[in-house]
Amino acid sequence: MKKPTVLALKRKKGEHLAMLTAYDFPTARLVAEAGVDLILVGDSLGMVVLGYDSTVPVTVDDMVHHTRAARRGAPDAFLIADMPFLSYASVEQALQSAARLMKDAGADSVKVEGGVEVAPIVEALVTAGVPVLGHVGLTPQTASALGGYRLQGKDEASVRRIVDGAVALEKAGCWGVVLELVPAELAKLVTNRIGIPTIGIGAGAHCDGQVLVFHDVVGLFSGFTPTFVKRYTEAGEAIRDAVKRYADEVRSGAFPAREQSFSIDAEVLRRLYGTLSLRPRHRDGLPDEALFFLRVLDLVGEQEVELRQIARLGGGALHHHARYRAELLRQVRFRFFELRGAEAQLGRRRRARRARRRYRPAGIARLRHPELLHECRAQLRVGYLRGNLVDHLRKRGAPAQL
Ligand code: KIV
Repeated sequence: MKKPTVLALKRKKGEHLAMLTAYDFPTARLVAEAGVDLILVGDSLGMVVLGYDSTVPVTVDDMVHHTRAARRGAPDAFLIADMPFLSYASVEQALQSAARLMKDAGADSVKVEGGVEVAPIVEALVTAGVPVLGHVGLTPQTASALGGYRLQGKDEASVRRIVDGAVALEKAGCWGVVLELVPAELAKLVTNRIGIPTIGIGAGAHCDGQVLVFHDVVGLFSGFTPTFVKRYTEAGEAIRDAVKRYADEVRSGAFPAREQSFSIDAEVLRRLYGTLSLRPRHRDGLPDEALFFLRVLDLVGEQEVELRQIARLGGGALHHHARYRAELLRQVRFRFFELRGAEAQLGRRRRARRARRRYRPAGIARLRHPELLHECRAQLRVGYLRGNLVDHLRKRGAPAQL
């Protein structure tokens, strides 16, 4: 979508403009791809992204940081950046803040909160060439002075303040005005009274446009959700569920599976390293424990298993002794867990021999079996295993020095 000019936006009075907040690269990209008309990097980010309980602590630096990210996600969108609390208390300060948001961060317009009292600041900004969106009704930066986050424009004085504010903002040069948390009738009155677009939030259906906070719309914010918000999806629940499944799969060993791993042609490794019962030079510097297991693996003829496992670790793995050792330990533990299990199950020596024969070829495939691996890790301590292993190998004629 082509980015509108400020003049074009003013002329959209009477059209239904869809505006949504976004505070970072991925959300701005999603929001732009979905085709909203305007993106607001609101200082609501203080609450929904930074975890503050109001917008007051948000700084110009915060806004620049997030506006830049949003701009990268939506390079062609009309991007409005909020001027945070006390960043436009004087004309000079307002110009400096706006310069940072537009020149450093890439905003197309800024938004300021307040009515008649901020009109001189707006005028100075507009005169300097800064497009300004106004904001009246509930103004979150000064919510405390307004009695909290509550409906505004209920009594005559409050209605007058809001109408006068909107009129003053138009006069000062705003291209549009946000109306927040006001009765629908009042929003209609203001919309009919001024010649620039009104953009409502909790202000009923008569405004020229609507804005909501992204996190409210998609169900990402677990704090207070106002009643005027419509939640279109429960992304928070979907994310929680996805993360839980990921963590479960990591713990069970189901992730990463073969599809998420890389391998190298076994022949390449064989050419480089021979059989992976390692050549002496590759054993240099390996810890004693790893050397012990390497010798064990040589003796029980596990070259094939080693080769495949090391191939799975990638080409550099041979030089990463810690990882290599862990992998070897894993293999040996697993194999002997299997044999032990089979022996215990069948009880008799004769049958145990049969079991060994039966289980050995299955070793490679079963290495990936998450439950067995898990149980194997849980049950076998290295020392215990080592003792059993040595006994076992000696019985099978292994050299005494093992
Ligand atoms: O900060 C913000 O997100 C806003 C909108 C709620 C209008 O000001």
